[in-house]
This record gives sequence, structure tokens and C-alpha cells, in this order.
Amino acid sequence: MDLGSSRTRVYIDKKGKVLDEASVAAYNVSENRIIAVGDEAYAMLGKTPDSIQAEYPLSGGVIAQSLLAEDMVNILLKHVCTSKIVMPRVVASIPGDITEVEKRAVVNAISSFGVRRVFLIENTKVAAMGAGADIMGPHGTMVANLGAGTSNAAVLSLGGLSVNKCIKIGGNNMDEDIVKYIRKKYALVIGNPMAEKCKKSIGCLIKPEEEKTFRVKGRDAISGLPRYVDVTSSEIMNVIMETASQIVTLIKDVLEETPPELVGDIYSDGIILTGGLSKIDGFAQLIADSTEIKVTLAENPEDCVINGCGQAISYITEVEKNARSNMDINPLMAAY
Ligand SMILES: Nc1ncnc2c1ncn2[C@@H]1O[C@H](COP(=O)(O)OP(=O)(O)OP(=O)(O)O)[C@@H](O)[C@H]1O
Ligand SMILES: [Mg+2]
Repeated sequence: MDLGSSRTRVYIDKKGKVLDEASVAAYNVSENRIIAVGDEAYAMLGKTPDSIQAEYPLSGGVIAQSLLAEDMVNILLKHVCTSKIVMPRVVASIPGDITEVEKRAVVNAISSFGVRRVFLIENTKVAAMGAGADIMGPHGTMVANLGAGTSNAAVLSLGGLSVNKCIKIGGNNMDEDIVKYIRKKYALVIGNPMAEKCKKSIGCLIKPEEEKTFRVKGRDAISGLPRYVDVTSSEIMNVIMETASQIVTLIKDVLEETPPELVGDIYSDGIILTGGLSKIDGFAQLIADSTEIKVTLAENPEDCVINGCGQAISYITEVEKNARSNMDINPLMAAY
């Protein structure tokens, strides 16, 4: 399971990815009753009457509202696991720099579904596995997993993390920057989902070859009436560049801390980019230009973490047998 700030994905052994929905839950405020989760709840964001609230239970890669997260996970899992016996053990990815309390919240949210055991694994490890890298050998692999609430970068070798850093900065910050910019420049109030659509459709991080435009629709800040403006890709590039620069700095920080022997491998193999945000036009180029290292965008970058979790299932038996000799190179970090 990849319980992300913006999307929740589920992979079942031998079946593959069976669920990919927004990490959103909508509930009736007075009755405290969930009325929708996933994509259905996402469609309600910003459109709910006073009696209904639609929210993301995760923020910055960690659970911010535990009861809501638990309900959301339960309902989503019920959609795909018709029989509980099908899924007695779960591998779940977590961001780097997560506290014990935050880990426990992930375990609780998942185990409330009736799961026997939860195994946690850092998302950079699974991202590298899902991108097809061999992380078990004595060879350095660098991966950057860029999501909605977090950006993670790591160097792996021998199944472990040599360096792993995480910042609570990602696609959501870009969306917020777009909301603020549109309000300030055009006196137009828009919601985060509109800003996200704009980012996905025309956002870029290198000078675009041909200028694209996007129609942002919202409410006039003064008259309160509906209005729209057409914005260009260069305009949006300037707005989201600040957040992108912080992500580039994270990658440089990881490179600076990488042991010299592993840096050599990274110079020859390059950096692997995964996560939904890495799909933004020109991100790979921006990172390559700033670090002078080759950058490869993984195939289906948004699915690398969940596909890697699927691969990590094969290590569960090893952990359960507690085979000491192999534990050192087992990528699963903890079992609860
Ligand atoms: N084609 C695209 N262009 C630009 N941004 C995109 C594109 N597709 C997805 N994104 C952005 O990627 C982010 C989602 O990525 P991902 O699914 O990896 O995040 P997550 O796992 O939910 O979050 P996190 O790992 O931070 O908890 C969102 O901010 C989304 O707007
Ligand atoms: Mg993620």
C-alpha cells in the first residue's frame, strides 16, 4: 500500500495495482459519518455545503487526521479486498524522516482493516525497486521520489540507505503558489484543485518551446462574480520555480553527503526520478542542469512506489523466518 498525501494506491500480490484513488474523505459534519472516499470525495473538494466537509487526511506524507485516515483506508480496502484472507499481510511505504508516532499512525490505519502484520519500507527504496534498479548489489543507486506533500532523495547500496533525506515540500506547494499568484495578480479567487489542473496541463520548469495557455476559472475577489483568466506556461513556470529549486537543493544535499565510492556509481548511472511530480515538463532537465549528472525519468513514475511495494512482498517470508544471515540485506525496515 502507498498511502500518499494526494493518492492512495494498492497492489495485490500476483494481481498488480488494483486501486489508485485520491486520498480524500468526505463526511457529514453533524452526524460524523463518512459519505465518500477516494476520487468520489475528491470531486467534492471546494464544492461542499456547510454540512459536508471533504478533506485530505494526510499532509506532508504523514497522517494528520488519524480517524479520518483509518475510515478512508478501510473503505478503500473494502473496495478491492472482498475477502480479508486475501490480504493478511501488508507492505506499506513511508517517507524518510518519519517519527515513531507517525509510523504507528500508518500501522494503526492499515491494521484496523483486520490485517495480521504491517511491514514498513522507506518510499525511496521501493521507488528504486519499482523503477527497475538493482538495490541489493554493492553499487550506488540514487533516486528522487517527488510527490504531492513530500520530496525524498536517497542513495542506496546493498539493500540499505546510505543517505536518505526528505522535505515536506512537493506538488501541493506549487498548487498553493499558483492560488496565491492568481489572487494577487488577477484578483481572482481559485481553489487548489483548479491550480493543480493548471500545473498539470501547462506547468513546466524549462523555457517552453511553444507557449501554452490555460483558462483558470474562479470568483472575482472584489465583485464576487464568476470570472476567468488565461495564463501562460512561462508565467506558471516562474510561479512554481521557487518550490522546484528547494527540491533541487535537497538532491544536491544528498549528493554532498554521499560517500565518495558511491558518488562514482551515481556519476556513471545518473539519478532516477520517480513520483507524480517528476512528470512536470522539464523537471528532469532542470535537475540535470543543476547537478551536472544524467537524470532518467522512470517509466510511469507515479507507480514506482506501489510497484516496488509489490516486489517487496517477496521479502516478507524472509523477515518472518527471521533468517539472521539475510536480515542485513532485507529492504523491509520494520514489522508491526
Ligand atoms: N502530469 C503531471 N504534471 C505535473 N504534476 C503532476 C502530474 N501528474 C501528477 N502530478 C503531481 O504529482 C503529485 C502527486 O504525486 P504522487 O502521486 O507521487 O504523490 P503522493 O504519493 O500522493 O504524495 P507524497 O508521496 O508526497 O505523500 C501531485 O502534486 C500532482 O499534482
Ligand atoms: Mg508518494
